[in-house]
Amino acid sequence: MQSVVRTEQLTKDFLTGFWKPRPGRVLDAVSFDVPRGEVFGLLGPNGAGKTTTIKLLMDLLRPTQGRAEIFGRPVSDADVRQRVGFVPEQPYYYDHLSAEELVQYFAGLSGLSRVDAVARTAAVLTRTGVRDEDRRRPLRQFSKGMLQRVGLAQALVHDPELVVLDEPMSGLDPIGRRDVRQIIMQLRDEGRTVLFSSHILADAELLCSHVAILARGQVVALGKLTDLTAPAMHGSEVVVSNVNAEAAARIGAHAARVTEIADGRYCFELAPGERPEPVIAILAAAGATLVSVSPVRASLEDIFLEAIQ
Ligand SMILES: Nc1ncnc2c1ncn2[C@@H]1O[C@H](COP(=O)(O)OP(=O)(O)OP(=O)(O)O)[C@@H](O)[C@H]1O
Ligand SMILES: [Mg+2]
Repeated sequence: MQSVVRTEQLTKDFLTGFWKPRPGRVLDAVSFDVPRGEVFGLLGPNGAGKTTTIKLLMDLLRPTQGRAEIFGRPVSDADVRQRVGFVPEQPYYYDHLSAEELVQYFAGLSGLSRVDAVARTAAVLTRTGVRDEDRRRPLRQFSKGMLQRVGLAQALVHDPELVVLDEPMSGLDPIGRRDVRQIIMQLRDEGRTVLFSSHILADAELLCSHVAILARGQVVALGKLTDLTAPAMHGSEVVVSNVNAEAAARIGAHAARVTEIADGRYCFELAPGERPEPVIAILAAAGATLVSVSPVRASLEDIFLEAIQ
C-alpha cells in the first residue's frame, strides 16, 4: 500500500549562535510513513522537531539531507499542494479580515470559482463551528479557540485528501478540544489522511492509530500507538464517592493503595495486571458513585526516555 506521506532520513541543520554561527542539527535522519486513511500523530516534547518536520513537509523549509514525499511525489510539486490542507502552529492570519473573507481568499487561491468559494466557505465554517454572527467580525476580535476553528476551515475549504495540523489542540478549552477531535475523526471517516503534532499523549491516544515519537530531532519510537503504550501501563486509579467504610475495606484487598480523599470519596490504586472492572462492580453493588477510572502509565517523556536508551 502506498503511503500518503513518506520521509527518508530527513535531516535539518540550522545555524545558531550570534557571534560564531555554527550549524546545529535539529532533525536527524527522520524516517516515517503515514498510511492512507489513518490519523498519524507526530509526538514529542517541546523543541523535539515536530514543527520543523511539518515545515519540511509543507515545503516551507528545505532539508539539509534526506527527502520527503507526499502522494509519492516531491513535496515541492504544485499538484501536491492542491491536495493538502495545512493549519500552522501559530496562524497569524490577516487579522483585519473577517473569518468569511479569509476562508474565501484561501478558497480562491486553491482555484475554486467565486461562486464555489462562497458556497464552500459557508459549508466549512458551519462544519468547524464558526457561528453565523461571528463570520463577518475581524479575526483580531477572535479568541484562540475561534481562530483555531477558522484555521481548520481554511485548511478544509478545498476538500484536501491530506490534512496537516501543527498542535491543533493547543490553547483550547475542553469543549474546543473535543470539537477538534470530532472534526479529525470525521475527516478520517471520510477517508482522508490526517497528520497532526502534539506534545500531549492523551490527545494522541484519543485520535491516532499510528505515531512517531520524536526526541531531540530523532525518531525514538514509531508504529501503532497501542503497541507503543501498552508496556507503559502501571495499573489504574479508581475514584468513587458515596462509599461506606465496609465496602472500602473490602476493596482494599484488591488495591495497592487506598486513600480517603474526603468523607466517602476514595481513590483506589490498582496494581499493574489488576483489572478495574471487578472492583467497580463491587463498588457499584455497594451503592457507590463512580467518579473516574484512569490508567496510570509512564508519561510520554518516560516512553521516549526509555526508547533512547
Ligand atoms: N529557524 C531556526 N533557527 C534555529 N533553530 C531553530 C529554528 N527553528 C527551530 N529551531 C530549533 O529547532 C528545535 C526544534 O524546534 P521545533 O519548532 O521543530 O520543535 P517542536 O517539536 O515543534 O516544539 P514545540 O512543541 O515547542 O512546538 C528547537 O531547538 C528550536 O530552537
Ligand atoms: Mg512546534
